[in-house]
Amino acid sequence: MKITNDNPAMTALRRTAGQVEEKLGKLLPRAVDLEQRVIDAMDYSLMAGGKRIRPFLVMETAALFGVGEDSALMVAAAVECAHTYSLIHDDLPCMDDDDMRRGQPSVHKQFDEATAVLAGDALLTLAFEILSDERTHMDARVRCELISFMARALGVNGMVGGQMFDLLAENTELDKIRITRLQRMKTGALIVFSGEAGAILGKAEERRRGAIKGYAHDIGLAFQIVDDLLDEEGVSEEIGKTAGKDAAAGKATLVSLLGADQARTKADMLINQALQHLEVFGDKAENLRHLAKFIINRAS
Ligand code: IPE
Ligand code: IPE
Ligand code: MG
Ligand code: MG
Ligand code: MG
Repeated sequence: MKITNDNPAMTALRRTAGQVEEKLGKLLPRAVDLEQRVIDAMDYSLMAGGKRIRPFLVMETAALFGVGEDSALMVAAAVECAHTYSLIHDDLPCMDDDDMRRGQPSVHKQFDEATAVLAGDALLTLAFEILSDERTHMDARVRCELISFMARALGVNGMVGGQMFDLLAENTELDKIRITRLQRMKTGALIVFSGEAGAILGKAEERRRGAIKGYAHDIGLAFQIVDDLLDEEGVSEEIGKTAGKDAAAGKATLVSLLGADQARTKADMLINQALQHLEVFGDKAENLRHLAKFIINRAS
């Protein structure tokens, strides 16, 4: 999938994508025998060209708090591994059953279901291996905090819980509060972690850490609303995954509940709120402002 939007964040987003892909190439394990197949599946999925929004968030918030690039890149790579795992499992026939991801056949289509399950498992465990690496941060307490917060973002009170909710809510009408909770868990939590990670690495003071969390919380919710709008209004070739699947599966989204116009208004409101959280950082947060605008205007 190509990043084609002309938003000024694009140059920076592309630069980060290149850096993270290079880092991922170095961090991917080497095989000596038949386990090569699972590494091939991890590589296939990781290198298919995602937008790398979460790594960008890590890099930009880390820069805001004076963290070195090498350290931030490790966390950015870990987050992208965890996110990619969530996509591989999300596409499985027992979940959303999508044959296309990042503009190419999903991992279970290109390989097989067992390999897709294992590639997801291996990416998740690799993410924690990276966070525990001394190159991520010299202070073991910082590494522990990163591990703890990422675990919470991905677990039953975060992504996994949200995915359970999402599947059980198919063909059920949820109210706005429950849909918002579902989306905060399945998508928002890892996005909040991506922002907060920069603050953890930089040992930021509580007020500034809170501002970044507020910003990431709002763009995280807006991000999923736009994903749901693209599912309804987009074209498979452009979004790199099958369009129209949410309505077909009876997913509970703000688009299904409120309609596209009101859902977009809500996303716009969240982006404006996100921008307000950045005021405390002045000009240094310019790329984060561009990212917020990219999220609402993106075409894929
Ligand atoms: C898709 O995430 C899954 C959701 C949480 C909505 P992205 O749209 O960031 O997917 P990639 O990484 O660019 O492929
Ligand atoms: C998935 O939401 C969020 C994840 C945790 C992977 P979706 O099911 O809407 O994501 P897409 O549209 O398949 O990327
Ligand atoms: Mg899903
Ligand atoms: Mg899906
Ligand atoms: Mg979707």
